[in-house]
Amino acid sequence: MLAALKKYLLIPRLIKLSSAAPKDPRTAWDKYWGDVRTTGATGDVLWDSGSSHELEGYLPTLAQLDPSLPVVDVGCGHGSYTRLLSKHFPHALGLDYAANAVDRARRESTDFPATSYAVCDMTAPDAARIVADALAEAGTGGDANVFIRGVLHVLDPKGRAALAANLLPVVGKRGSVFLAETNFRGTPVDYVTHLGATRHSIPAPLEWAIRGLPMPGRFGAAQRAKAFPAPDWTVVEDGSANIETRPLSNPSSPDVIPGYYAVLRPR
Ligand SMILES: C[S@@+](CC[C@H](N)C(=O)[O-])C[C@H]1O[C@@H](n2cnc3c(N)ncnc32)[C@H](O)[C@@H]1O
Repeated sequence: MLAALKKYLLIPRLIKLSSAAPKDPRTAWDKYWGDVRTTGATGDVLWDSGSSHELEGYLPTLAQLDPSLPVVDVGCGHGSYTRLLSKHFPHALGLDYAANAVDRARRESTDFPATSYAVCDMTAPDAARIVADALAEAGTGGDANVFIRGVLHVLDPKGRAALAANLLPVVGKRGSVFLAETNFRGTPVDYVTHLGATRHSIPAPLEWAIRGLPMPGRFGAAQRAKAFPAPDWTVVEDGSANIETRPLSNPSSPDVIPGYYAVLRPR
């Protein structure tokens, strides 16, 4: 009881920290990526464990995607998953609406020839054309697979539905969508407490995110059903996932946020 009350004493600190974050999400993300100094297991980015462990857990599921098609990493951030995916598909195209994320992803991918990047708002009406042009430029046009990690839970319901609709022409007849999202059941205070925040201290990558970014929501089966309507999409497989963060509580292993994954195909 006392512990629960103490947890809520965090609220004024959270309100103060988050009050300076830009109100427009795209501006907030671009500033965030422009301010990031280092990435990986000791870096600034909360959702970057610096390891391939989480992706390796997805590989048996990803084996259901057509391996002859390129993969589009939607909301790629600094490209950590784009680079990992490029080892399993002929080409990996990373897309993000934050130009600073794309700049950083390009800089970190110079040793990964099967990657390319483009700036694209995946909720915008011209998104499918931008994806098609970027795939053609990479010499790999036509249908593509789609990988999404940690993007839908930061969008509002309208943005999720627009993004999902834009994926239909990208996947065409042969491609599939794989998504993995955080699905934390609890209040924002529970969420930051889960990641180690107390009244006295907040892990630096978490504080960095609270200061700069909109508070994330959750994305599970109910949210997926609304964003990817049954007349358009078949759920091939879904279930719970572990979203790994940068090590916070123990320097040698990532912290974990409960998540949700799904594989979808167009009808
Ligand atoms: C939590 S980060 C995840 C980054 C990456 N997928 C990963 O797992 O490392 C969310 C990313 O989605 C991007 N994003 C958010 N809304 C977007 C949109 N409408 N179109 C494209 N990218 C978007 C943000 O700029 C940010 O880089």
